[in-house]
Amino acid sequence: MELIVARGREDLVKARRGGTVALVPTMGALHEGHRSLIRQARVRADQVVVSIFVNPLQFGPNEDFSRYPRTFESDLDACRAEDVDVVFHPAAEDMYAPDRQVGVSAGQMGRIVEGAFRPGHFDGVLTVVLKLFNLVQPDLAVFGQKDAQQLALIRRMVADLDLPIEILGVPTVREPDGLALSSRNRYLSGDDRRVALALSRALRAGAAQLTPAEIRRTARAVLDEAGPELDVDYLALVDPATFTEVGDGFEGMAVLAVAASVGSTRLIDNVTLTLNPS
Ligand code: PAJ
Repeated sequence: MELIVARGREDLVKARRGGTVALVPTMGALHEGHRSLIRQARVRADQVVVSIFVNPLQFGPNEDFSRYPRTFESDLDACRAEDVDVVFHPAAEDMYAPDRQVGVSAGQMGRIVEGAFRPGHFDGVLTVVLKLFNLVQPDLAVFGQKDAQQLALIRRMVADLDLPIEILGVPTVREPDGLALSSRNRYLSGDDRRVALALSRALRAGAAQLTPAEIRRTARAVLDEAGPELDVDYLALVDPATFTEVGDGFEGMAVLAVAASVGSTRLIDNVTLTLNPS
C-alpha cells in the first residue's frame, strides 16, 4: 500500500481503513529507536499511523526548538521501509490556534526529576499527545522507555482522564557501545560522544549493585569520572510509576535515570532494575 501523508483531521478520516489503529507519536529525525516502536505497532494493529510533529509547546525558551533536526524526506523513506500506512504531519498553525487557552497539566509528577529541569515540558508533551490521540483515535499508542518519565505520565494521563487507549512501552535501542539512540546524538562531536558514553556506563554500573545506596553511589562515581565536560542535571533512582525516589526498603522494579549536558547537547537515559528484599 502507498504511504499516505495526512496534514489534518479530514485527511486522517479519509485514510481510515477499519480494523485496529496503532499510533507512534514522534518528532521526526527517525532512527532505529523510533523504528523499533513502529515495528511493535505493525505487529499489533491493522493500521499504523506515525505522527511527525516538532511540538513547540514542549520546548523551553532556551531549548533547541529551532535547531531540532527536521529530516522529513528521509523520515518518509524510513516509514515506507517499515510498512507504515499513514504519516500524520500537521502544520504548527493547524495544531495550535493563536487564541488557544486550554491544555493538559502533568501535575506534581510533571515537576519532579526531568520536570524540575524543564518547567512546562511535560504539560506540553501531554497536551500534544492528547491532541494526537483525539485526532488519530488509535486503539494502541506506542512509546519508548528511553523517555521513562514521559511514558509514566502518559500512562497516568490515560488512567486519570479515562482514555480508551492501550499504551505500549518499548525498550531503549542503543548503539553497540551503549549510547542510547537519540535524534540529538547527531549534534555530538567525536570527543563529545566519548564523554556521553558515561551516561550508559554509569547506569550499567549502578544497575549491577544491590541496594539503593550502592546503586546511587556507584553510578555517581562513574559520572564524576567523566570530568567537567559532563554537566549532570540529576541522577535519580525512582519508582517507575510515580518517579518519586525509592527508599532503602524498596522492593520491585525501579528506574535509574540520568540527565546531563555535553557541550550544548542535553541527553537523558535510564535503565530498569529490580530491587530484591535483602
Ligand atoms: P521523540 O523524541 O521523537 O521520540 C518519539 C518516541 O520514540 C518516544 O516514545 C521515545 O521514547 C521513543 N524513542 C526515542 N529514542 C528511543 C530509543 N533509543 N529507543 C526506543 N525508543 C526511543 O518523545 C517525543 O518525541 C515527544 O515528546 C512526543 C511523544 C512525540 C510528543 O511530542
